[in-house]
Amino acid sequence: MAVYNLWKRYFPRSVKKRVAVFFYDALSRMNTADDLLFLNHGYAALEGPGSTMELNPDLEKHRYPMQLYSRIADLIPWEDQNAVEISCGRGGGTAFVMDTKKPAELIGIDLAGASIDYCAKAHKAPGLSFQKGDAMQIPLDDASCDTVLNVESSFNYPDFEKFIGEVDRVLRPGGHFLIGDYRRAHSVDAFKASLDSLNYDVIEALDVSPHIIRALKLDSDRKVKMIQRYAPKFLHGVLTEFAFANTGPGSDIDLFERGQKVYWIYALRKPSAS
Ligand SMILES: C[S@@+](CC[C@H](N)C(=O)[O-])C[C@H]1O[C@@H](n2cnc3c(N)ncnc32)[C@H](O)[C@@H]1O
Repeated sequence: MAVYNLWKRYFPRSVKKRVAVFFYDALSRMNTADDLLFLNHGYAALEGPGSTMELNPDLEKHRYPMQLYSRIADLIPWEDQNAVEISCGRGGGTAFVMDTKKPAELIGIDLAGASIDYCAKAHKAPGLSFQKGDAMQIPLDDASCDTVLNVESSFNYPDFEKFIGEVDRVLRPGGHFLIGDYRRAHSVDAFKASLDSLNYDVIEALDVSPHIIRALKLDSDRKVKMIQRYAPKFLHGVLTEFAFANTGPGSDIDLFERGQKVYWIYALRKPSAS
């Protein structure tokens, strides 16, 4: 935990970016079968078992991270859209959105090449594709997309403003930008100001931290068991932190509960050309 906290607090953002992508690449090289399709905190209802949707029993293990995608994707219409997910990770969310929302096209993009290789093999559907690319320089033409989706990844980026500029460049007038992510309390205002600077119409802007905390708690045992099953023992501690599966004092769950970390989701619409 000490090593992880040192890294989080004191390493320059440019180094963190490279280390993070190296780490995501390494995760994708591990043989985790289909147990690791998502890399996000998850979303849960505040009551009962936390379910917000019906699921096929073999997808139950992905319930909370899938519910986060569902919560965000439900905010806009997808029919006939040319959509892109920036930082698709292991592609579980990309495949889920393709399957449930059925846009005309959905491209998953990530900087971690091993994740893209995994996605291309694991998730196949008409209209669904994956390619390696950087959120700082999205490999798509100007005004070529109707929807940009971004889930829990922008905290990794060395320059959030640059990402926002790239989203604006690739989105068509009338297109949607969906983003869900967390920030330290002291940088939430800067996060919101960057999004406000787009001058897009706001469909939803909501602090969903209580739902994230509940999901982290409900999903913690599953994550710990998965780490014990697939990772070498010397990595168990750091991976438990990385997966936010630690529930003790000083953990990420604790930071969320004390309001030191906050999770926001936004759905924005770029104004149509006049
Ligand atoms: C926490 S994971 C989230 C993945 C996925 N959205 C999910 O919820 O399962 C963050 C992802 O961001 C990707 N990433 C980090 N920096 C990136 C960049 N500059 N451009 C594109 N992807 C990046 C990482 O490789 C990783 O797959």
